[in-house]
Amino acid sequence: MAGYLEKNAVIHLAVFLAFSTAAITSARAEEAHASHEVFGYDDDATGPEKWAALRKDWAICGDGKRQSPIDIGKVEPQKEKAPLAQTYKAGAATMQNRGHDFMLKWKDGNSKLTVQGKEYTLLQVHWHAPSEHTINGTRFEAEMHMVHEDPSKARAVISVLLSTKAGMPSKLLTEMGPYFKSLAGKEKGEEEVKQPVDPSTWIDKTSGYYRYDGSLTTPPCTEGVIWTIMSKIADASKEQIDLFKTVTTRVEPNARPAQKLNDRIVRYYEV
Ligand SMILES: *[C@@H]1O[C@H](CO)[C@@H](O)[C@H](O)[C@H]1NC(C)=O
Repeated sequence: MAGYLEKNAVIHLAVFLAFSTAAITSARAEEAHASHEVFGYDDDATGPEKWAALRKDWAICGDGKRQSPIDIGKVEPQKEKAPLAQTYKAGAATMQNRGHDFMLKWKDGNSKLTVQGKEYTLLQVHWHAPSEHTINGTRFEAEMHMVHEDPSKARAVISVLLSTKAGMPSKLLTEMGPYFKSLAGKEKGEEEVKQPVDPSTWIDKTSGYYRYDGSLTTPPCTEGVIWTIMSKIADASKEQIDLFKTVTTRVEPNARPAQKLNDRIVRYYEV
């Protein structure tokens, strides 16, 4: 499957290169220059290799030693049990098209996660396609990031990898589907979600997880993020993954390449 996906990515890139014009490239470079906030995922002036140079306060994207995502290979199984302490509740939310991804943002901070004795509030969820984290080199079709923050703005992210292998749709993506469809291609578009969104069933409580110390995977690439990657891969349908690719009209995956592990350890916690 990894081989297939990598090949697919290469084909996508080839198609993009074949059809991209100098005009698109220079318009995006100008846009980046003007707003100082635009970044992309192609191998061009705003691509991952250039993020650090786009803004002074994005320098850590280039010289940070604890960056994310990573390839999860060697792990240290932990003897102690550390079940995820979540108290998630339904809350009013909006869906946004941020230009590079769809983000569901709660208005009230009533969903909490306790990690290593500290309480974090669930702020938002967004999706990457294909996955950013890989497992022993295997890249999955998508990855969901649940972003939590504590009062000092320290972050903890729970990640769920998504695969289309079983061909089963994801219930939560079915619920969000109409919003992805109506915001497709509408950069900076935002829509109220009609019903309160309840994330309490979004994480499989029978799954173990990998834990490591990393960063945001988008600029400003801030470090000190506690990552929790669920070891069970969740299901989604191909149609659902295809909706993530409608964020922009450009042919562009939104996954940052794997970063160096350096001296970090990935711990594995069983349920
Ligand atoms: C990756 O592969 C190695 C060697 O087979 C194995 O020991 C390790 O547990 C694997 N890692 C994960 C996260 O599955």
